[in-house]
Amino acid sequence: MIEIAAASCLYHDFIRQLRNDQRVQGGFLEHVSISSAQQDVYMTKFASRYLVALIADQPAGYAGSIDNDIRVCTHPEFQGRGVGRALINAIMERFPESQARIKPGNHASEALFLACGFKQVGESDGLLIFRRADLAAG
Ligand SMILES: CC(C)(COP(=O)(O)OP(=O)(O)OC[C@H]1O[C@@H](n2cnc3c(N)ncnc32)[C@H](O)[C@@H]1OP(=O)(O)O)[C@@H](O)C(=O)NCCC(=O)NCCS
Repeated sequence: MIEIAAASCLYHDFIRQLRNDQRVQGGFLEHVSISSAQQDVYMTKFASRYLVALIADQPAGYAGSIDNDIRVCTHPEFQGRGVGRALINAIMERFPESQARIKPGNHASEALFLACGFKQVGESDGLLIFRRADLAAG
């Protein structure tokens, strides 16, 4: 069962390590190596806009919406089990105006957002813009 929880300080290092994980970096626009100190500063500001997904009390993925821009990642060991879908649905309940900017060729991310009722509404700076179909017109 997937549980959605607030991104309390218990999970800040999980989020950092997952974002730094070479196995997921290809899905993002930028390759990063975030230090603990950088993560502390970032999370002090933005933790309230992040959620984590837990499976059997273990963190399995995270999502956040900053300036209505969604970032999402599922740990490789938990991919394909509905974690991303649960996170996006929870993010959209809390931050309903959010949209996704997807790197062309990130088929997993495109499939995830389509499965969550998004559609592509355009392109900007070389990224595909996806909005929830019911909100796309507004
Ligand atoms: C994109 C990502 C978050 C998907 O997470 P996930 O937990 O594996 O996704 P889910 O299991 O919830 O799948 C949701 C839907 O997307 C589809 N999907 C997920 N990964 C897929 C893949 N690799 N290929 C095709 N479809 C895929 C699933 O089939 C599912 O659709 P369905 O319910 O109709 O079967 C995950 O692959 C990831 O973390 N990638 C690296 C980071 C990244 O690219 N983040 C996005 C930046 S915009």
